[in-house]
Amino acid sequence: MAFKVLGVGSSLRNAASSTTALSVALDFAKKQDAEVRLLDLKQTKLPLYDPTESQSIPEVKKVKDDVNWADALILSTPDYHGSMSGAMKNFLDYFWAEFAGKTFGYICASHEKGLTAMDQMRTAVRQCYGWSIPYGVSVSDSDDFTNGRITQKLELRLGMLARDLVVYGDLIRQQFVRDLNTDYIDTFASRYRK
Ligand SMILES: Cc1cc2nc3c(=O)[nH]c(=O)nc-3n(C[C@H](O)[C@H](O)[C@H](O)COP(=O)(O)O)c2cc1C
Repeated sequence: MAFKVLGVGSSLRNAASSTTALSVALDFAKKQDAEVRLLDLKQTKLPLYDPTESQSIPEVKKVKDDVNWADALILSTPDYHGSMSGAMKNFLDYFWAEFAGKTFGYICASHEKGLTAMDQMRTAVRQCYGWSIPYGVSVSDSDDFTNGRITQKLELRLGMLARDLVVYGDLIRQQFVRDLNTDYIDTFASRYRK
C-alpha cells in the first residue's frame, strides 16, 4: 500500500508562498511513490475550535478524514509574529491522539527563516506524540522566487524534505502499527490500542 502524505497549508493569502512551496513538496513526495493530499485551510475553513461543541459540519469532517487517512503530514505556515498562523494553530487544536506514530515535516514562509514558528509547530506535534523531521524548510519571498516561480535551490530543499519524510516516516509508521498489533506493553504505542 502506498505511503500517504497530507500537506496542510495555512496561509489565507492568494498565491501564498508557503502553500506554493507545500504543493511542490507534495509533488516530490509523489515521485517517491507516496499518495498525497493537499488540505488548504484557505479553501476548507474550519470554525474556531470549541471543545464544548461537537462541530460535525462538513469542513470538520473532511479535515478529520484527511488526518486519519495520512501516514505523515507536512505543516506549512507563514511566519506571523515569530509564530504559526492562527489557521494552523486552530487546525492543530482539533487533534491529539490522531498524530501519534505519524511523522511531520515543516515549511515556513518568513523574512527571518521562521525557526521559532517551526519550533512551535514541532512543540504542538510533540505534545501529541507525533515525530518530527529534525530540520524544516524556510521559504523567503524575495530569495526563493523568480517571476513567481520557485528557485532550484528551494526545490532541492523541498525535494529533500519530501524524500526524508517518506523514507523515515514510513519506518516509524510501520513500527507503530506493528506495536499497536502486539500485546507488548513496554512501548508508547500500547496506550493507543483500542
Ligand atoms: C500579521 C503578520 C505578521 C507577520 N509577522 C512576521 C514575523 O514576525 N516575521 C517575519 O519574518 N515575517 C512576518 N510576516 C510576514 C510573512 O511571514 C511573510 O510575508 C510570508 O512570506 C507570508 O507567507 P505566505 O505568502 O505564505 O502568506 C508577517 C505577516 C503578517 C501578515
